[in-house]
Amino acid sequence: MDIDILVKGGLLADGSEADVAITDGIITGVEPGITAEAGEVIDASGKLVSAPFVDAHFHMDATLSYGRPRVNASGTLLEGIALWGELKQHQTREEIVARALDYCRQAIGRGVLGIRSHVDVTDPTFRTVEALLEVQERVRDVIDLQLVAFPQDGWYRAQGAEAQVIRALDAGVDVVGGIPHFERTMAAGAASVRAACELAAARGLCVDLHCDESDDPLSRHIETLAAETIRLGLQGRVAGSHLTSMHSMDNYYVAKLLPLIAEAQVAAIPNPLINITLQGRMDTYPKRRGLTRVPELRAAGVTVAFGQDCVRDPWYPLGSGDMLEVAHMGLHVALMTAPDQMRAAYQMVTETPAQVMGLDYGLEVGKRGSLVVLDAPDPIEALRLRPARLAVISNGRVVARTEPARCTTAAGF
Ligand code: FE2
Repeated sequence: MDIDILVKGGLLADGSEADVAITDGIITGVEPGITAEAGEVIDASGKLVSAPFVDAHFHMDATLSYGRPRVNASGTLLEGIALWGELKQHQTREEIVARALDYCRQAIGRGVLGIRSHVDVTDPTFRTVEALLEVQERVRDVIDLQLVAFPQDGWYRAQGAEAQVIRALDAGVDVVGGIPHFERTMAAGAASVRAACELAAARGLCVDLHCDESDDPLSRHIETLAAETIRLGLQGRVAGSHLTSMHSMDNYYVAKLLPLIAEAQVAAIPNPLINITLQGRMDTYPKRRGLTRVPELRAAGVTVAFGQDCVRDPWYPLGSGDMLEVAHMGLHVALMTAPDQMRAAYQMVTETPAQVMGLDYGLEVGKRGSLVVLDAPDPIEALRLRPARLAVISNGRVVARTEPARCTTAAGF
Protein backbone atom coordinates (compact mmCIF):
# COMPACT_ATOMS: atom_id res chain seq x y z
CA MET A 1 0.00 0.00 0.00
CA ASP A 2 1.60 3.21 -1.17
CA ILE A 3 -0.84 5.72 0.31
CA ASP A 4 -2.97 5.68 3.46
CA ILE A 5 -5.66 8.13 2.30
CA LEU A 6 -6.24 9.46 -1.21
CA VAL A 7 -8.66 12.39 -1.58
CA LYS A 8 -9.67 12.25 -5.28
CA GLY A 9 -10.86 14.95 -7.62
CA GLY A 10 -11.19 17.82 -5.17
CA LEU A 11 -10.96 21.53 -5.94
CA LEU A 12 -8.37 23.57 -4.10
CA ALA A 13 -9.10 27.08 -2.81
CA ASP A 14 -7.50 28.61 -5.94
CA GLY A 15 -9.93 26.66 -8.17
CA SER A 16 -7.42 24.12 -9.47
CA GLU A 17 -8.24 20.41 -9.35
CA ALA A 18 -5.94 18.06 -7.47
CA ASP A 19 -5.81 14.75 -5.66
CA VAL A 20 -4.25 14.79 -2.20
CA ALA A 21 -2.27 11.79 -0.94
CA ILE A 22 -1.53 11.27 2.75
CA THR A 23 0.94 8.70 4.03
CA ASP A 24 2.09 8.18 7.62
CA GLY A 25 0.28 11.36 8.66
CA ILE A 26 2.07 13.53 6.09
CA ILE A 27 0.90 14.95 2.76
CA THR A 28 2.87 13.09 0.10
CA GLY A 29 1.18 14.34 -3.05
CA VAL A 30 -0.94 17.27 -4.26
CA GLU A 31 -1.47 16.92 -8.00
CA PRO A 32 -4.07 15.79 -10.53
CA GLY A 33 -4.40 12.12 -11.45
CA ILE A 34 -2.61 10.30 -8.62
CA THR A 35 -3.04 6.60 -9.44
CA ALA A 36 -1.16 4.82 -6.64
CA GLU A 37 -3.06 2.31 -4.52
CA ALA A 38 -4.52 3.73 -1.33
CA GLY A 39 -5.88 2.24 1.88
CA GLU A 40 -8.87 4.56 1.70
CA VAL A 41 -10.12 6.67 -1.19
CA ILE A 42 -12.38 9.66 -0.52
CA ASP A 43 -14.27 10.91 -3.57
CA ALA A 44 -14.15 14.72 -3.40
CA SER A 45 -15.19 15.35 -7.03
CA GLY A 46 -16.32 18.95 -7.40
CA LYS A 47 -15.86 19.65 -3.69
CA LEU A 48 -13.59 22.16 -2.00
CA VAL A 49 -10.60 20.50 -0.34
CA SER A 50 -9.21 22.96 2.14
CA ALA A 51 -6.55 23.13 4.79
CA PRO A 52 -8.30 22.96 8.18
CA PHE A 53 -10.07 25.83 9.88
CA VAL A 54 -8.14 27.54 12.66
CA ASP A 55 -9.54 29.69 15.45
CA ALA A 56 -7.06 32.30 16.69
CA HIS A 57 -9.08 33.38 19.73
CA PHE A 58 -11.27 31.32 22.03
CA HIS A 59 -12.17 30.83 25.71
CA MET A 60 -12.39 27.12 26.32
CA ASP A 61 -12.63 27.39 30.10
CA ALA A 62 -15.95 29.23 29.86
CA THR A 63 -17.51 27.58 26.82
CA LEU A 64 -20.92 25.84 26.98
CA SER A 65 -21.67 27.34 30.39
CA TYR A 66 -24.49 29.59 29.16
CA GLY A 67 -27.09 30.35 31.84
CA ARG A 68 -24.87 29.38 34.76
CA PRO A 69 -25.53 30.83 37.24
CA ARG A 70 -27.66 33.28 35.19
CA VAL A 71 -27.66 34.94 31.79
CA ASN A 72 -25.98 38.24 30.90
CA ALA A 73 -28.93 40.65 31.10
CA SER A 74 -27.17 43.76 29.76
CA GLY A 75 -25.24 41.94 27.04
CA THR A 76 -22.10 43.88 27.91
CA LEU A 77 -18.49 42.80 28.28
CA LEU A 78 -18.42 44.05 31.84
CA GLU A 79 -21.46 42.04 32.99
CA GLY A 80 -19.96 39.02 31.25
CA ILE A 81 -16.75 39.40 33.25
CA ALA A 82 -18.76 39.74 36.49
CA LEU A 83 -20.86 36.70 35.60
CA TRP A 84 -17.79 34.61 34.80
CA GLY A 85 -16.42 35.70 38.19
CA GLU A 86 -19.47 34.12 39.85
CA LEU A 87 -19.25 30.93 37.82
CA LYS A 88 -15.55 30.30 38.25
CA GLN A 89 -15.86 30.11 42.02
CA HIS A 90 -18.14 27.11 41.78
CA GLN A 91 -17.19 25.03 38.74
CA THR A 92 -15.04 21.95 39.22
CA ARG A 93 -12.06 20.94 37.17
CA GLU A 94 -14.03 17.96 35.90
CA GLU A 95 -16.85 20.21 34.68
CA ILE A 96 -14.42 22.47 32.83
CA VAL A 97 -12.72 19.48 31.19
CA ALA A 98 -16.04 17.89 30.19
CA ARG A 99 -17.36 21.10 28.61
CA ALA A 100 -14.09 21.79 26.81
CA LEU A 101 -13.93 18.27 25.36
CA ASP A 102 -17.57 18.56 24.29
CA TYR A 103 -16.68 21.80 22.49
CA CYS A 104 -13.61 20.22 20.88
CA ARG A 105 -15.75 17.41 19.47
CA GLN A 106 -18.16 19.99 17.99
CA ALA A 107 -15.28 22.03 16.55
CA ILE A 108 -13.66 18.96 14.97
CA GLY A 109 -16.99 18.22 13.26
CA ARG A 110 -16.76 21.69 11.72
CA GLY A 111 -13.19 21.10 10.55
CA VAL A 112 -11.47 23.24 13.19
CA LEU A 113 -8.12 21.62 13.96
CA GLY A 114 -6.22 24.56 15.51
CA ILE A 115 -7.44 26.68 18.43
CA ARG A 116 -5.72 29.36 20.51
CA SER A 117 -7.63 29.50 23.79
CA HIS A 118 -7.14 32.09 26.48
CA VAL A 119 -7.35 30.52 29.95
CA ASP A 120 -8.21 32.62 32.98
CA VAL A 121 -5.34 32.45 35.46
CA THR A 122 -6.94 34.73 38.07
CA ASP A 123 -8.86 31.87 39.67
CA PRO A 124 -6.74 31.38 42.82
CA THR A 125 -7.48 27.63 42.81
CA PHE A 126 -5.71 27.40 39.44
CA ARG A 127 -8.22 24.76 38.32
CA THR A 128 -8.98 26.50 35.00
CA VAL A 129 -5.31 26.20 34.02
CA GLU A 130 -5.02 22.61 35.23
CA ALA A 131 -8.21 21.68 33.39
CA LEU A 132 -7.12 23.26 30.10
CA LEU A 133 -3.64 21.70 30.29
CA GLU A 134 -5.38 18.33 30.67
CA VAL A 135 -7.61 19.09 27.67
CA GLN A 136 -4.60 20.18 25.62
CA GLU A 137 -2.98 16.81 26.29
CA ARG A 138 -6.13 14.80 25.58
CA VAL A 139 -6.84 16.41 22.20
CA ARG A 140 -3.26 16.80 21.03
CA ASP A 141 -3.38 14.06 18.36
CA VAL A 142 -6.26 15.85 16.65
CA ILE A 143 -6.28 19.56 17.61
CA ASP A 144 -3.41 22.00 18.03
CA LEU A 145 -4.64 23.67 21.20
CA GLN A 146 -2.48 26.62 22.17
CA LEU A 147 -3.10 28.22 25.58
CA VAL A 148 -2.74 31.86 26.60
CA ALA A 149 -2.18 32.84 30.25
CA PHE A 150 -5.01 35.35 30.54
CA PRO A 151 -5.45 37.45 33.69
CA GLN A 152 -9.18 38.06 33.15
CA ASP A 153 -9.60 40.30 36.20
CA GLY A 154 -6.56 42.44 35.36
CA TRP A 155 -2.77 42.04 35.52
CA TYR A 156 -2.62 44.66 38.29
CA ARG A 157 -6.31 45.05 39.17
CA ALA A 158 -6.59 41.47 40.47
CA GLN A 159 -4.41 40.74 43.44
CA GLY A 160 -1.67 38.25 42.63
CA ALA A 161 -2.56 38.05 38.93
CA GLU A 162 0.98 38.66 37.68
CA ALA A 163 2.27 35.80 39.84
CA GLN A 164 -0.54 33.61 38.51
CA VAL A 165 0.46 34.40 34.91
CA ILE A 166 4.02 33.32 35.73
CA ARG A 167 2.74 30.21 37.51
CA ALA A 168 0.67 29.30 34.43
CA LEU A 169 3.66 29.74 32.11
CA ASP A 170 5.76 27.60 34.47
CA ALA A 171 3.02 24.94 34.27
CA GLY A 172 3.29 24.85 30.46
CA VAL A 173 0.87 27.49 29.18
CA ASP A 174 2.22 28.75 25.86
CA VAL A 175 1.50 32.47 25.41
CA VAL A 176 1.46 35.61 27.61
CA GLY A 177 -1.96 37.31 27.85
CA GLY A 178 -3.37 40.50 29.31
CA ILE A 179 -6.32 42.89 29.34
CA PRO A 180 -5.02 46.46 29.56
CA HIS A 181 -8.39 48.20 28.99
CA PHE A 182 -9.74 46.49 32.14
CA GLU A 183 -7.01 47.82 34.44
CA ARG A 184 -8.01 50.64 36.80
CA THR A 185 -6.36 53.41 34.79
CA MET A 186 -4.92 54.01 31.35
CA ALA A 187 -1.49 54.21 33.00
CA ALA A 188 -1.96 50.85 34.71
CA GLY A 189 -3.10 49.41 31.38
CA ALA A 190 0.03 50.66 29.64
CA ALA A 191 2.18 49.29 32.46
CA SER A 192 0.50 45.88 32.09
CA VAL A 193 1.31 45.88 28.37
CA ARG A 194 4.98 46.56 29.16
CA ALA A 195 5.04 43.85 31.83
CA ALA A 196 3.49 41.26 29.51
CA CYS A 197 5.91 42.06 26.69
CA GLU A 198 8.94 42.00 29.01
CA LEU A 199 7.86 38.64 30.42
CA ALA A 200 7.46 37.22 26.92
CA ALA A 201 10.82 38.61 25.82
CA ALA A 202 12.57 37.10 28.86
CA ARG A 203 11.05 33.68 28.18
CA GLY A 204 11.10 33.65 24.38
CA LEU A 205 7.30 33.47 24.19
CA CYS A 206 4.52 35.03 22.14
CA VAL A 207 2.09 37.68 23.40
CA ASP A 208 -1.65 37.86 22.74
CA LEU A 209 -3.51 40.57 24.63
CA HIS A 210 -7.19 41.37 24.85
CA CYS A 211 -6.53 44.91 23.72
CA ASP A 212 -8.87 47.90 23.57
CA GLU A 213 -12.08 45.84 23.62
CA SER A 214 -13.95 49.06 24.19
CA ASP A 215 -15.98 51.70 22.39
CA ASP A 216 -13.75 54.36 23.98
CA PRO A 217 -11.76 55.98 21.14
CA LEU A 218 -9.11 56.99 23.69
CA SER A 219 -8.37 53.37 24.59
CA ARG A 220 -5.01 53.28 22.79
CA HIS A 221 -3.16 50.35 24.34
CA ILE A 222 -2.46 48.98 20.87
CA GLU A 223 -0.06 51.88 20.44
CA THR A 224 1.88 50.83 23.55
CA LEU A 225 1.73 47.19 22.45
CA ALA A 226 3.26 48.03 19.08
CA ALA A 227 5.92 50.28 20.60
CA GLU A 228 6.89 47.68 23.22
CA THR A 229 7.02 45.01 20.53
CA ILE A 230 9.58 47.07 18.63
CA ARG A 231 11.54 48.04 21.75
CA LEU A 232 11.90 44.42 22.84
CA GLY A 233 12.45 42.91 19.39
CA LEU A 234 9.23 40.86 19.52
CA GLN A 235 8.21 41.53 15.91
CA GLY A 236 6.09 38.69 14.52
CA ARG A 237 5.38 37.21 17.96
CA VAL A 238 2.68 39.58 19.20
CA ALA A 239 -1.08 39.79 18.59
CA GLY A 240 -3.68 42.31 19.65
CA SER A 241 -7.09 40.68 20.05
CA HIS A 242 -10.31 42.64 19.46
CA LEU A 243 -8.90 46.20 18.94
CA THR A 244 -12.50 47.44 18.81
CA SER A 245 -11.74 50.97 20.02
CA MET A 246 -10.09 51.51 16.63
CA HIS A 247 -13.63 51.50 15.17
CA SER A 248 -14.34 54.71 17.11
CA MET A 249 -10.96 56.42 16.86
CA ASP A 250 -10.29 59.62 15.02
CA ASN A 251 -9.17 58.98 11.42
CA TYR A 252 -6.14 61.21 11.77
CA TYR A 253 -4.84 59.21 14.71
CA VAL A 254 -5.54 55.92 12.92
CA ALA A 255 -3.50 57.15 9.93
CA LYS A 256 -0.48 57.20 12.25
CA LEU A 257 -1.42 54.05 14.17
CA LEU A 258 -1.82 51.62 11.26
CA PRO A 259 1.77 51.99 9.98
CA LEU A 260 3.04 51.58 13.55
CA ILE A 261 1.15 48.27 13.93
CA ALA A 262 2.51 47.13 10.56
CA GLU A 263 6.07 48.17 11.48
CA ALA A 264 5.81 46.17 14.72
CA GLN A 265 4.39 43.17 12.83
CA VAL A 266 1.66 42.91 15.46
CA ALA A 267 -1.19 40.70 14.24
CA ALA A 268 -4.81 41.75 14.73
CA ILE A 269 -7.43 39.23 15.86
CA PRO A 270 -10.98 40.61 15.54
CA ASN A 271 -13.86 38.50 16.84
CA PRO A 272 -16.88 39.56 14.77
CA LEU A 273 -19.68 37.48 16.32
CA ILE A 274 -18.86 38.76 19.77
CA ASN A 275 -17.98 42.36 19.06
CA ILE A 276 -21.06 43.01 16.92
CA THR A 277 -23.10 42.08 20.01
CA LEU A 278 -20.92 43.39 22.88
CA GLN A 279 -20.01 46.76 21.41
CA GLY A 280 -22.32 49.72 20.91
CA ARG A 281 -24.41 48.77 23.94
CA MET A 282 -24.29 52.26 25.37
CA ASP A 283 -25.08 53.99 22.07
CA THR A 284 -28.54 55.22 21.15
CA TYR A 285 -28.66 55.60 17.35
CA PRO A 286 -26.65 55.25 15.25
CA LYS A 287 -25.16 52.24 17.07
CA ARG A 288 -21.54 51.62 16.29
CA ARG A 289 -20.65 48.21 14.88
CA GLY A 290 -17.60 48.00 17.10
CA LEU A 291 -15.53 45.73 14.86
CA THR A 292 -11.98 46.92 14.30
CA ARG A 293 -10.94 48.34 10.91
CA VAL A 294 -10.33 45.05 9.11
CA PRO A 295 -9.87 46.17 5.46
CA GLU A 296 -7.74 49.13 6.51
CA LEU A 297 -5.49 46.95 8.70
CA ARG A 298 -5.05 44.51 5.83
CA ALA A 299 -4.32 47.32 3.39
CA ALA A 300 -1.64 48.60 5.77
CA GLY A 301 0.05 45.18 5.64
CA VAL A 302 -1.12 43.92 9.04
CA THR A 303 -1.84 40.21 9.48
CA VAL A 304 -5.52 39.88 10.42
CA ALA A 305 -7.08 36.61 11.63
CA PHE A 306 -10.68 36.16 12.79
CA GLY A 307 -11.49 34.43 16.09
CA GLN A 308 -14.62 32.75 17.43
CA ASP A 309 -14.02 34.03 21.00
CA CYS A 310 -17.13 32.62 22.68
CA VAL A 311 -19.70 29.86 22.31
CA ARG A 312 -22.61 29.75 24.77
CA ASP A 313 -20.88 31.42 27.67
CA PRO A 314 -21.28 34.55 29.85
CA TRP A 315 -20.54 36.81 26.88
CA TYR A 316 -22.40 35.18 23.97
CA PRO A 317 -25.49 32.94 23.92
CA LEU A 318 -24.96 31.49 20.44
CA GLY A 319 -22.03 30.17 18.37
CA SER A 320 -21.39 26.74 16.96
CA GLY A 321 -17.63 26.39 16.62
CA ASP A 322 -17.99 27.00 12.89
CA MET A 323 -15.30 29.37 11.62
CA LEU A 324 -17.35 29.87 8.43
CA GLU A 325 -20.03 31.48 10.61
CA VAL A 326 -17.33 33.75 12.08
CA ALA A 327 -16.02 34.76 8.65
CA HIS A 328 -19.59 35.22 7.35
CA MET A 329 -20.34 37.71 10.13
CA GLY A 330 -16.93 39.33 9.74
CA LEU A 331 -17.29 40.06 6.05
CA HIS A 332 -20.76 41.51 6.65
CA VAL A 333 -19.77 43.82 9.48
CA ALA A 334 -16.52 44.90 7.76
CA LEU A 335 -18.32 45.38 4.40
CA MET A 336 -15.97 42.90 2.69
CA THR A 337 -18.32 41.66 -0.03
CA ALA A 338 -16.08 42.06 -3.11
CA PRO A 339 -14.94 38.63 -4.37
CA ASP A 340 -11.30 39.13 -3.36
CA GLN A 341 -12.41 40.35 0.06
CA MET A 342 -14.60 37.28 0.61
CA ARG A 343 -11.66 35.08 -0.36
CA ALA A 344 -9.59 37.03 2.14
CA ALA A 345 -12.24 36.40 4.82
CA TYR A 346 -11.87 32.66 4.13
CA GLN A 347 -8.10 32.95 4.54
CA MET A 348 -8.69 34.75 7.84
CA VAL A 349 -10.20 31.56 9.31
CA THR A 350 -7.66 29.19 7.72
CA GLU A 351 -4.14 30.24 6.66
CA THR A 352 -3.82 33.49 8.59
CA PRO A 353 -4.67 32.21 12.08
CA ALA A 354 -2.40 29.22 11.41
CA GLN A 355 0.37 31.70 10.63
CA VAL A 356 -0.36 33.67 13.83
CA MET A 357 -0.18 30.44 15.86
CA GLY A 358 2.95 29.22 14.05
CA LEU A 359 1.38 25.92 13.01
CA ASP A 360 2.81 23.33 10.62
CA TYR A 361 0.04 23.94 8.12
CA GLY A 362 -1.04 23.88 4.49
CA LEU A 363 -1.99 21.64 1.58
CA GLU A 364 1.58 21.05 0.44
CA VAL A 365 3.83 18.01 0.19
CA GLY A 366 5.69 17.54 3.46
CA LYS A 367 3.06 19.27 5.60
CA ARG A 368 0.90 17.44 8.10
CA GLY A 369 -1.88 15.35 6.60
CA SER A 370 -4.77 17.47 7.79
CA LEU A 371 -7.58 18.78 5.60
CA VAL A 372 -11.31 19.31 5.25
CA VAL A 373 -13.62 18.32 2.38
CA LEU A 374 -16.59 20.69 2.16
CA ASP A 375 -19.93 20.26 0.40
CA ALA A 376 -19.29 23.36 -1.73
CA PRO A 377 -17.02 24.01 -4.72
CA ASP A 378 -15.07 27.07 -3.57
CA PRO A 379 -14.41 29.38 -0.60
CA ILE A 380 -17.10 31.91 -1.51
CA GLU A 381 -19.79 29.25 -1.85
CA ALA A 382 -18.54 27.77 1.42
CA LEU A 383 -19.06 31.15 3.08
CA ARG A 384 -22.51 31.52 1.55
CA LEU A 385 -23.78 28.07 2.47
CA ARG A 386 -21.69 27.09 5.52
CA PRO A 387 -22.09 23.51 4.22
CA ALA A 388 -21.41 20.10 5.72
CA ARG A 389 -17.80 19.18 6.34
CA LEU A 390 -18.02 15.89 4.45
CA ALA A 391 -14.70 14.61 5.81
CA VAL A 392 -12.24 16.03 8.32
CA ILE A 393 -8.75 14.49 8.32
CA SER A 394 -6.24 15.22 11.08
CA ASN A 395 -2.68 13.94 10.95
CA GLY A 396 -3.60 11.25 8.44
CA ARG A 397 -6.74 10.02 10.21
CA VAL A 398 -10.40 10.68 9.35
CA VAL A 399 -11.71 12.22 12.57
CA ALA A 400 -15.18 13.37 11.48
CA ARG A 401 -17.67 12.84 8.69
CA THR A 402 -20.96 14.66 8.05
CA GLU A 403 -23.62 13.64 5.59
CA PRO A 404 -24.54 16.46 3.19
CA ALA A 405 -27.82 18.19 3.88
CA ARG A 406 -30.38 17.48 1.15
CA CYS A 407 -33.74 19.19 0.77
CA THR A 408 -36.48 18.01 -1.59
CA THR A 409 -39.02 20.67 -2.45
CA ALA A 410 -42.57 20.12 -3.70
CA ALA A 411 -43.59 23.67 -4.43
CA GLY A 412 -45.32 22.80 -7.69
CA PHE A 413 -43.45 25.20 -9.98
FE1 FE2 B 1 -11.63 36.97 24.30
